[in-house]
Amino acid sequence: MKVLSTVIELQTQLKKMHLSPVGFVPTMGALHEGHLSLVQNAVQQCPVIVVSIFVNPTQFNNKNDLKNYPRTPDSDLSLLKKVLRETDLVFTPGIKEIYPEEDLRKFHFGNLDNVMEALHRPGHFNGVAQVVSKLFDIVKPDIAIFGLKDFQQLAIIKALVKQTGNKVRIIGNPIIRENDGLALSSRNRLLEPEIRSHATIIFKTISAVTQMIKNYNITEIKSFVRESINNVPGFKIEYFEIVDDIDLIPLKTKTEMKRDKRYFGCIAVVAGKIRLIDNIEIELV
Ligand code: PAJ
Repeated sequence: MKVLSTVIELQTQLKKMHLSPVGFVPTMGALHEGHLSLVQNAVQQCPVIVVSIFVNPTQFNNKNDLKNYPRTPDSDLSLLKKVLRETDLVFTPGIKEIYPEEDLRKFHFGNLDNVMEALHRPGHFNGVAQVVSKLFDIVKPDIAIFGLKDFQQLAIIKALVKQTGNKVRIIGNPIIRENDGLALSSRNRLLEPEIRSHATIIFKTISAVTQMIKNYNITEIKSFVRESINNVPGFKIEYFEIVDDIDLIPLKTKTEMKRDKRYFGCIAVVAGKIRLIDNIEIELV
């Protein structure tokens, strides 16, 4: 693999190799097995892939969160070395390479940017759309892979691609979890040990919902989830919603569920000082 940090170098290298399809996995580093599963998927489908590592300031609505975001460049590169081939490229741009000037663009995603994460992290998805659209312009991938872990982000990216008429194919990869069920996240390493030892409650709770959906209504399910999380010391729920995977409209009753749509239970929890998100598919049997 080659590590490149400028747009010119990256584009020159891609042109020189002239391979297609080009696969792309954007990340903010602090890589773990979740990221690597995306990378492996891309490697299987494409003769050349680009993995970007860029902690994008415009998607952080909280300066402290940006400052504390884990940065582990050495470990990132040694993990990538194990899965990437000679042809593959790691793109590690500095801030001026992505934002030579301030990005003032405002994106509109309707309901997608009006529920769940959007309500708790104002401006977050605008920042994601800014950086992903710039990265797509730079890399010009044929296929881009994102994790279902960031369920709302995936829906936003699909909408972004539709709006801009970009031909890139967006693929969603399943969530990779720790043995106890906690979804892998770069933020997990910031959890205090006591909080980490109880964090399995998040997956346990949303897993229970996949069964409860048969016999309980949405209001009952939501109170169960709220109590189950808030009963654990140090844990506080921000939201739990069951939404479809295209429009992300929160269900009020089970009768709104349509056979031809897929539904996901999405949760955000503050665990100690760290905010965690997770989701699970909910099937009405
Ligand atoms: P980051 O949080 O680094 O995640 C990069 C990609 O890895 C995302 O598509 C995310 O959904 C996926 N991912 C993270 N944890 C995962 C897990 N446990 N299982 C499966 N996939 C997982 O998401 C971002 O970066 C940024 O917002 C980005 C898209 C790079 C734009 O800055």
